[in-house]
This record gives sequence, structure tokens and C-alpha cells, in this order.
Amino acid sequence: MRAVVWHGKRDVRVDEVPDPTIQEPTDAIIRVTSTGICGSDLHLYEVMGPFMTEGDILGHEPMGIVEDVGSAVTHIAPGDRVVIPFNISCGHCFMCTNGLQSQCETTQNHEHGTGAALFGYTKLYGQVPGGQAAYLRVPQAHYGPIKVPDGPPDDRFVYLSDVLPTAWQAVEYADVPRGGSLVVLGLGPIGDMCTRIARLAGVETVIGIDLVPDRLERARHNGVDVLDLSEGGDVAEAIRERTDGRGPDSVIDAVGMEAHGAPVAKLAHQLTSLLPDAIGEKLMETGGVDRLAAFQTAIELVRRGGTISLSGVYGGMADPLPMLQLFDKQVQLRMGQANVRRWVDDIMPLVVDEDDPLELESFATHRLPLDAAPDAYEHFQKKEEGMVKVLLQPGLT
Ligand SMILES: NC(=O)c1ccc[n+]([C@@H]2O[C@H](COP(=O)([O-])OP(=O)(O)OC[C@H]3O[C@@H](n4cnc5c(N)ncnc54)[C@H](O)[C@@H]3O)[C@@H](O)[C@H]2O)c1
Ligand SMILES: [Zn+2]
Ligand SMILES: [Zn+2]
Repeated sequence: MRAVVWHGKRDVRVDEVPDPTIQEPTDAIIRVTSTGICGSDLHLYEVMGPFMTEGDILGHEPMGIVEDVGSAVTHIAPGDRVVIPFNISCGHCFMCTNGLQSQCETTQNHEHGTGAALFGYTKLYGQVPGGQAAYLRVPQAHYGPIKVPDGPPDDRFVYLSDVLPTAWQAVEYADVPRGGSLVVLGLGPIGDMCTRIARLAGVETVIGIDLVPDRLERARHNGVDVLDLSEGGDVAEAIRERTDGRGPDSVIDAVGMEAHGAPVAKLAHQLTSLLPDAIGEKLMETGGVDRLAAFQTAIELVRRGGTISLSGVYGGMADPLPMLQLFDKQVQLRMGQANVRRWVDDIMPLVVDEDDPLELESFATHRLPLDAAPDAYEHFQKKEEGMVKVLLQPGLT
């Protein structure tokens, strides 16, 4: 089959690889019809190289049609249309039954001391072959796959794999009080979706911050008040002016480790991706390698006693943080990978709503064949060609 394969820093290719097969009774095989490229894939493209192995299949936002199931998989059958959550979770351990599927104890990665296995996501998370491929082996398929109805286009459902539950959790964790205000840092797919969900949930003031013109425009078009970081000036002051002089009740950081505006850490990033793997891996596991510009902005912006919800991914072990400011401002801090299955039942009514209140059908800016992946990664990373969300569709040629 064809699959998007990691070969090195900024080097992904579409290769011919063996078809996946059922290996455990709890497995399923799906034929992928749509599969997203995520901001998290960009970390693998650039910074997380030391944890990647040449030949790894990328991707964690797939949906498709069930081809085959193992003997222990009973809630889905060949021919069913399913979305696959990006975390691989068992559904019956302590963490899963407490709604913390991204910490699943059955698929945790003890060697690295990390949480649940993820599709297409480095040795840290199980090195499980990913979903940017014609076919995907789905472990723990007795629980993970979300069955969805036939009829509406893939765009309605595919974001249940990651974007929707991630944004939903970010907004839940942001815990905006009634009548309150929310700033969303980063208007990529995750930040953009956060603004949509927050507005639909009735948050009165939603302000989005980014520096890419078409991303700002997209949010503005959806009724979000935006602030362009590239215009310079005192961001905190500008935001305070829009939030009763106090700062927002809550801030979502939907940027993560590759934020613009942090030259020193940028050097650390370049180092980790240039060093031999063993040394780069150590540096990431022990060093402060994140570009913290967005998180620092969040700390500065949030009002005293307010909440920061981190959905952007960070990866360093010793990042310097302004503890005085965090403590003094009494900041509430919540974060983590999305617990996908936890939120699906809450989100589903919006997804199937005839009116498409989250405008999912026009959320993707690009639908491309799998073979376009190398170009798509490059444009998405450089934020060129108005690319915000790409769906690769193996059926397209
Ligand atoms: N927690 C989870 O489960 C989860 C799931 C999916 C994605 N993520 C993470 O969420 C983040 C966003 O993902 P995405 O797909 O939207 O990616 P993206 O890279 O398209 O979006 C990031 C956006 O942040 C903007 N930005 C950069 N520096 C900024 C700064 N200093 N201030 C404000 N904005 C800035 C960029 O211009 C870009 O538009 C990534 O870190 C990704 O890894 C987390
Ligand atoms: Zn993703
Ligand atoms: Zn579990």
C-alpha cells in the first residue's frame, strides 16, 4: 500500500510499504478515506527527529471503512464507517474508566514513562504505524473506533479523531465563567476550532491571536475578535484594554513548542534536530528545549486567578518558567493530550446537526491525494497557500 513515511528532518515521502494485517484479536484494519495533517505532525517533521526512526508511518487523524476485525471486536464490522481516535486506549483500565483515555494504563509506554500510545507518534508513544496511509491497523479496536453514519461527507466526522475533542477539552479546561472572556493563542486548526466551540458554548468575549494573515482573517470572518501579533506593540496592554483592564478570565495556548518569537530556544530546536539521535534524545529528555513564547504570553495575559488551558504540545524536561509570576498571579493551569473518547458523545450532536454549526464542511482548506503529502507538509509548515487544514484522501488521484 501507499503510506506517508518519515525519512528525516523535513523529509517525508510517500512509499510503497507492506499492507497491515490483524495481529491481535482486538485489532481491526480500516481502509482510510480521509486523514488529517496536524500541527503535531509538524513537531515530528522538525524538532522531534531524535525520537523518530526512518520508515515510521505518520498520521493520527484517520477515518475510513472497516475491512476486517479480530475475534474480540464486536461493536464494528466490515463495511462500517469509522473514525479512529488518535490515542490508543483500552476502555477498561483505571484511567480509561475515569475519562483519561490519553493516560490508558494498558497502552502506556513504560520505557519512556509516557502516557497512552498514539498513532504515528515517535518512540515516546509506542511507535505505532500511523494513519496517513491507504490502510491502517487499529489496535484496541474493541473500544477505540467511533462508528458514524453513512451519507454526510467525511469532513463532518474526520475531526472527531483529534481536532474536535482536543479543542473541546481545551475549552472545558479553560473553564470560562459565565459572561467571561477567553483569549486563544494560535489560530491553526486547533485554536480556530477552540474559538468556534467557545462561541457556540456562549462565551461572550473570544479573542484570537496569531500572526498569519489568512488565519486571522478566517477567525475574524467567523465573528472572532482578533489581534495580529506581527503588528508588534504591547500585546498584554492591548488585550487588557479589551477585557475590562484586567486581562481575560482564561487563555488557551493552541501553539505549543514551536512558537514564533523565541530565538534562544530556536537554537536548541536546531541543535536537537542536527545532533546524532542519541545526544539529541538526551538533550530533549533533560534540557529545556521548548520555545515558550506563547506560554509566556498566556501567563502574562491571563487575569489574576484565571485559568490557562494548554493544548499546544511541549516536550522539554527543564524549561525555565516564571514561577514567581505563576504563583503570584494565582494561575490555574490545566493541560494534556485530548482524551478523545471522553468527549465524543458530547460533540456528536453538533457533528450530525443539519445546520453544521461548527462549519465542519468548510473547515478543511485542502483535500489532496496521499501522494501530495510531501508538498502539503512543506506548505503547512511554512503556512503558505492559505493552508490551515489538509485532509489527505487516498482515494483521490
Ligand atoms: N493536546 C492535544 O491533544 C493536541 C492535539 C492536537 C494538536 N495539539 C497541538 O496543538 C498545537 C496547535 O496545533 P495546530 O494543528 O493548530 O497547529 P498549527 O501549527 O497549524 O497552529 C499553530 C498556530 O500558532 C501560531 N503561532 C505561532 N507562534 C505564536 C505565538 N507566539 N503567539 C500566537 N500564535 C502563534 C502559528 O502561526 C499557527 O497558526 C500544536 O502544538 C499541536 O501539537 C495538541
Ligand atoms: Zn492531530
Ligand atoms: Zn485503558
